[in-house]
Formats: sequence, structure tokens, C-alpha cells
Amino acid sequence: MTIERIVDTSTHADDNDEQQIERTLRPQRFSEYIGQEHLKKNLELAIGAAKKRGEPVDHVLLYGPPGLGKTTMATVIANEMGANIRVTAGPAIERAGDLASILTNLADGDILFIDEIHRLSRSVEEVLYAAMEDYKLDIVIGKGPAARSVRLDLPKFTVIGATTRAGALAAPLRDRFGLSHRLDFYTPQEIGQIIERAAKLLGSKIDTKAVAMLSGRARLTPRIANRLLRRVRDYADMNGDGVIDTAIATKALRLLEIDDLGLDHADRRLLNSIVDHYGYRPIGLTTIAALTGDETSTIEDFIEPYLLQIGLIERTPRGRRVTVKAAKHLGKQPQQELL
Ligand SMILES: Nc1ncnc2c1ncn2[C@@H]1O[C@H](COP(=O)(O)OP(=O)(O)O)[C@@H](O)[C@H]1O
Ligand SMILES: [Mg+2]
Repeated sequence: MTIERIVDTSTHADDNDEQQIERTLRPQRFSEYIGQEHLKKNLELAIGAAKKRGEPVDHVLLYGPPGLGKTTMATVIANEMGANIRVTAGPAIERAGDLASILTNLADGDILFIDEIHRLSRSVEEVLYAAMEDYKLDIVIGKGPAARSVRLDLPKFTVIGATTRAGALAAPLRDRFGLSHRLDFYTPQEIGQIIERAAKLLGSKIDTKAVAMLSGRARLTPRIANRLLRRVRDYADMNGDGVIDTAIATKALRLLEIDDLGLDHADRRLLNSIVDHYGYRPIGLTTIAALTGDETSTIEDFIEPYLLQIGLIERTPRGRRVTVKAAKHLGKQPQQELL
């Protein structure tokens, strides 16, 4: 059984309502994109220079945990360049031929956004980095002895790649990106601004204390901030006059079982079972996965980054281990024999 987690950082592709709201809230320009100042400064410079030269901007790689604004930034770059954006994802490009047909349909200056770029197959990766390097595409026509290779010229396009794992990209592909940037977790203040902006766009009234309360529980992640706001707003509409204050927010958050660090029952279960079975000892990712029944990739991409960020888990050369802070948060002590 899968329980929908409100703190889940993935988009729920089957949730139309959520997609609609994401479209409403997604910043379109640098001026609306809150935080990531370092990234914005670098991109603004690169875009300004490219426009001055009348050239497409260099290929951009954006990496970091889900929900931090990679797809949003790709859209912003396209808007700022005044370019068309074509959106695809690693798993959707199965064969080299699929990529060839995407590339030959681009026009000069177009942006090709490839989400989950670490999931491209090796053969597709090879075609891509050759095309990114010199805007040429080698294709083989025919089969057997009659087969011959032709070289096609491609338009001057820009690839924006997004990934949760820059390390999973083949080095030659990684090297083709002139700009490569990591997105960091946001500060609680920035998350507060994102919540205020979203509330305004959704036409909701929320007071300052309630903003602070939600921003402390949004895992420093815009996608979760927006999702929390939406749930609390539903609660306020159903159980009050629609205004979100701390009383309403407290009750709604309790119903959602989100604690004051933004952890839900799944996070607490994970931490609890590590403390119960291993105490503060370091353990491997596969052991954690076996304890919780999750895929290792789910833990690495969705659960662990925030727990590492706030210091409930730490990485050691011999594996991950929970911290004293985590045990305190759970209100427990590892058993004596595990110490
Ligand atoms: N810097 C930001 N300022 C305001 N809202 C943001 C920002 N970054 C992301 N968001 C919001 O969070 C949602 C998720 O961001 P998204 O770009 O889809 O994340 P990612 O692609 O990294 O998983 C977006 O729909 C947008 O509404
Ligand atoms: Mg995305």
C-alpha cells in the first residue's frame, strides 16, 4: 500500500488539481524567483552576455534535491531568453532515434529541457553530447552492407538538464555543460516569502505567525511549502472563515501528522527503526532500505537530503548514522547494548 505523503517532494502527476496550482504558482521571471541568489546572479550574467552577442545561452545543468525549483528555473531561463522551450525527460527518450527526431525538429535558439537527465541510456547520452558539442548529428541510414552514415547539421540549441544526481551522469556528458549549478535548500525566511507570494496568488489570507509556522515545517523546499499552504487553506475553508491563523494552522498540521521539524510518520518511522536496531552505529543505504521497505533511490533522493540538511542523519565513511539530535527529537535513547 502506498500512503500519500504530504511532504513527498515528487509531483503527483495524476493530480490535476495540483498541476493546475503548480502552473499558477510557478515563477516566470528572475524577479519572481525567490532565493538561489548565487545561481540567479550567474545565470543573469550568462543570459545577458548571450543576448548581447545574439547567441543562444550555454548548456545549463541544474542539480539538487527534488522540489527546489529546477524545472521552474528552466522555464525562467527560456522566458528571459525569449526562447521556445521543448520539455522532455530522460526515461522518455528510449532510443538514439527518438533523440534524433527531437533534435532535428528544433530551431535556432530553442531550449531543450531534459528532466531526469541521469536516466538517459548510454547510447542516447553519446548522441546527445556529440550534438551539444558541435551541433552535428551522425545517423546511420540503411542496414547491413548498404548502411552508410550521414552527418546532419543541427540548429544552435541549448540543453538545460535537470537531475537529482549529478554524480550519475557520464563524465563526457557532464563536461558539455558550460554552466553547472547546484540548487540549495532555502532558508526559512525565503520559504516564508514563497508562502506569502503563493497565498496572494491563491487569494488566501494568512497571518505572519502562521506563515512562520508553515515555513518551519516545509522542509526548506518550495514544492512542500506550496503543498502545505494548500492543505491548510482547505482546512481553513472547511473549518473557519478561510483566514489562516496559528490556531487553524496548528490543527491542520496536527491532522496531517507533521511535526515541528516538518517530519511526517514515514520519516519518524525510518529514524525510529534505525535507533531501535542500530543506535548511533553507521549503517549502509541498503540496510536502511531493508528496514523501511523503500527503494534505495527513494531514500537517497526524497527522504535523506532534508534529514542530512537539518542534522538528524550524518554521513560517515562507514555509512549513515542518526545523530543525538534525532534521538532527542524522537524522545528516545538507543538501548544500552547498542551504545
Ligand atoms: N524560487 C522559487 N520561488 C517561488 N516558488 C518556487 C521557487 N522554486 C520552486 N517554486 C515552486 O515550487 C514548485 C516546485 O518547483 P520545481 O521547479 O518543479 O522543482 P524541481 O524541478 O526542482 O523538482 C514550483 O511549481 C513552484 O511553484
Ligand atoms: Mg522538476
